[in-house]
Amino acid sequence: MRVFVTGATGFIGSSIVADLISAGHEVVGLSRSDAGTEVLVRAGATVLRGDVNDLDTLRNAAEAADGIIHTAFNHDASDLKQHSENDRKVIATLGAALAGTHRPLVIASGTGLVQSATGRPVTETDAHAKSAVFPRAATEEAADALIDQGENVMVMRLPQVHDMRRQGRIQWHIDIATKQGHVAYVGEGLNRVPAVHVSDAARLFRGALEKGEAGARYHAVAEEGVTLREIAEAIGERLRLPVGPITPEEAPEYYGWLAELAIMDLPASGALTQQRLDWVPTGPDLLTDLRDRTTT
Ligand SMILES: NC(=O)c1ccc[n+]([C@@H]2O[C@H](COP(=O)([O-])OP(=O)(O)OC[C@H]3O[C@@H](n4cnc5c(N)ncnc54)[C@H](OP(=O)(O)O)[C@@H]3O)[C@@H](O)[C@H]2O)c1
Repeated sequence: MRVFVTGATGFIGSSIVADLISAGHEVVGLSRSDAGTEVLVRAGATVLRGDVNDLDTLRNAAEAADGIIHTAFNHDASDLKQHSENDRKVIATLGAALAGTHRPLVIASGTGLVQSATGRPVTETDAHAKSAVFPRAATEEAADALIDQGENVMVMRLPQVHDMRRQGRIQWHIDIATKQGHVAYVGEGLNRVPAVHVSDAARLFRGALEKGEAGARYHAVAEEGVTLREIAEAIGERLRLPVGPITPEEAPEYYGWLAELAIMDLPASGALTQQRLDWVPTGPDLLTDLRDRTTT
């Protein structure tokens, strides 16, 4: 299959590119920089040079592809709403280019956009938040619009994706602990973060592309919920810092602007996805990658 990958130079996208190529697919990867282009060429991909918001370029690439994996996203938190609305247009453009062809489009989203009020892990069939409340949900709404039109669109909701170099938002906890000189968790630290190794996530994107069901939501979840206490202990071990609880009242001083996020309980299940796509995660777990971090 000739697969067009946006975000091909990113953390997850670059793993997807490597996985697709090793499985015999031809990859056209979007890159907006010389450095990204070099990495993609070395990986064996064809490069489309451009910005994801250049919708004409995007349309042409989508029309020439047998399938698309869309992972590009600008994570600059200072203008999340604008970036999310841009993503809505990008997805509409990709979908329009594939309209009526049944060629698959797999779109990256996050399990954090589905929240459970009861503490039950959220599932693939739970509804996502609305963009009026969480701007990032524009991505899921754009997918809904295409699915409603009968297009072969799937959403891949990602939990915390990790390897030994990167652990996403957990980097914030590491930075704060380094600054504060100790690692904290709030109360008993029982709030949870779901996780997946980047290699397992990449393989699952390919599974969805090759045999996914039009309109499906998949959860790339290997671990339903790693507690903040376990995460804090792994960070403490790696950084050789003391670890201990703080009260909810102390959280804003320790965490700063991250305080609200640091106490959220976000368990997510990937059981349906594992069944439907015959996906068995095999990569190291989050705590192993945290303890074996290649950077401090
Ligand atoms: N990592 C996680 O744990 C996680 C969790 C939940 C959801 N997700 C979602 O998964 C997707 C991939 O995440 P990631 O961690 O791989 O992100 P990442 O490492 O930040 O990569 C983002 C990619 O998007 C590209 N990009 C951003 N703006 C662009 C633009 N204007 N034009 C062209 N390319 C552009 C980047 O290109 P450059 O290399 O040139 O910057 C990069 O290839 C995103 O939708 C993200 O929100 C990730």
